[in-house]
Amino acid sequence: MSSPIIVRTVAEMRAHVRAWKTAGQRVALVPTMGALHEGHLSLIRIARQNADRVVATIFVNPKQFAPHEDFDAYPRGEAADVEKLASVGCDLLFAPNGAEMYAPGFASAVSVSGVSEPLEGAARPQFFGGVATVVAKLFNQSQADVAVFGEKDYQQLQVVKRMARDLDIPIAIIGAPTARAEDGLALSSRNAYLSAPERAAAVALPTAMKAAAAEIAAGGRIDAAEQKATAALQAAGFGQVDYVEVREASDLSRLGPGPIGDAQGRILIAAWLGKTRLIDNMAVG
Ligand code: PAF
Repeated sequence: MSSPIIVRTVAEMRAHVRAWKTAGQRVALVPTMGALHEGHLSLIRIARQNADRVVATIFVNPKQFAPHEDFDAYPRGEAADVEKLASVGCDLLFAPNGAEMYAPGFASAVSVSGVSEPLEGAARPQFFGGVATVVAKLFNQSQADVAVFGEKDYQQLQVVKRMARDLDIPIAIIGAPTARAEDGLALSSRNAYLSAPERAAAVALPTAMKAAAAEIAAGGRIDAAEQKATAALQAAGFGQVDYVEVREASDLSRLGPGPIGDAQGRILIAAWLGKTRLIDNMAVG
């Protein structure tokens, strides 16, 4: 398949999207921070199934990183990313620089309360404000009809859905299933930070998560399953476990401590392996 058109400015992206829409074509957006892997490519494929044209974005968004986080170290490699996008038939790549996204004097922020507050929001207080701000901008800039986000970042998906609903942004949001390695580890750009022994130990995370989900689905207590999963992670060599929590699937309110009953739940985990923070989640109940 051919290489995507690469544009660096909002004006260029809008001109392409306007021409496609004038021709009656539906446009899908896949926002990313680059360092693309099979998980991102699965999002592009889903976008293709839901639209005539696919726009991917690559922007490592400084606003969603705290000063002590890995903004500078975050893996970057546009040439390799472009090849991958070409292999799945992406039409256009929007890869702006920092000044195009945040012009001098930029002074606005989008804040989503409630669903953004626990879990990642508690562990990374800056994160969802930065995500909501940049995603609102990308929605406005692209004027896409539909956007695809991975369920790997499940809380992000719920925050983006809430934000688009609350701000009346006319875009449909699709959540795409998490792409996994053969051993079950969720694909993530940050897996590149893992040493070989850490990568081998990392499989304990999906294993503990699946065991907890099965125990709860079989009628077990949520608090006991969460504690068992935490202990399994620590036994496998994980350091700090930021959270292992079962929450309601759409508003992310806390479930438990007893059995799940009829609720639609989601188990969400974040834990450190060496210097790498891994997250994962799956449906429960
Ligand atoms: O999930 C990501 O890669 C980022 O949080 C996103 C949605 C591209 C916003 O910067």
